[in-house]
Amino acid sequence: MMSEAEVPDLEPLRAWFASYCGSFRSPDPEQQRNFDLKEKHTRNVCLAARRIAQGESPRFCMLAEVAAVCHDLGRFPQFRDFHTFKDSDSLNHAHLSAQVVKEHALLDFLTRQERETVEIAVRLHNVFEVPAGLPPETGKLLRLLRDADKLDIWRVFIEYFQAPEEERASAAGLGFPDIPECAPEVLDAVRSGKLVHLSSLRSLNDFKLLQVSWIYDINFVSTLSFIRERGVLEQFAAILPDDDAVLDALARVREYLDRRLDDSTRNP
Ligand SMILES: [Fe+2]
Repeated sequence: MMSEAEVPDLEPLRAWFASYCGSFRSPDPEQQRNFDLKEKHTRNVCLAARRIAQGESPRFCMLAEVAAVCHDLGRFPQFRDFHTFKDSDSLNHAHLSAQVVKEHALLDFLTRQERETVEIAVRLHNVFEVPAGLPPETGKLLRLLRDADKLDIWRVFIEYFQAPEEERASAAGLGFPDIPECAPEVLDAVRSGKLVHLSSLRSLNDFKLLQVSWIYDINFVSTLSFIRERGVLEQFAAILPDDDAVLDALARVREYLDRRLDDSTRNP
């Protein structure tokens, strides 16, 4: 069990993060937009992680924020060196984040066990499926981080489509072509309650459907409530083609969301 000793102040870590972001400043506005995107994303994931962790022990809430601050540190050198956020065209950004954490000894204020818990959560936050056999606290922190991350990736993605083209952070769409089709296998996966694999994507619409399929991978009921409150599905419906196959897929996801929220009120 984690010690419930005094909860460390995270102000030094937050200040370190601000200076870390500052160290990547670029005179190129297009580069800077992509760095700004990840800085704002990280801050929002911190807030979401704290919100989802509400009701847990103060120490666990603190770890949730620490994991959130650290999870995308690798995005900065990734974009600086490869000009992309696509891991398959560059490197695994989660592994790089864990490396940055170690290089800068960011977790020295934690116990050894907590340090390992955060390091594993950071390193695995982007895996397709949470592996079995993790220590319970680690599994819980990883699941929370993945939920918080998804909540803000949805915001980034929706805002990307709402922004005028010249203001968009270029790397947010991962370079997929904006063609009208959706791949049938991607639609089938969403309709049958499955997560979409990144490797099956051919278009930006497929990428939108992949993000919708993440709802099947949400762990905490409070995250599901935010999804409903924020109208995530409605926002995706507004940027996807208005055809029967898409509407059917979205209806399946809505049924799933409603069912899980209903179950949680019946068996809290
Ligand atoms: Fe993230």
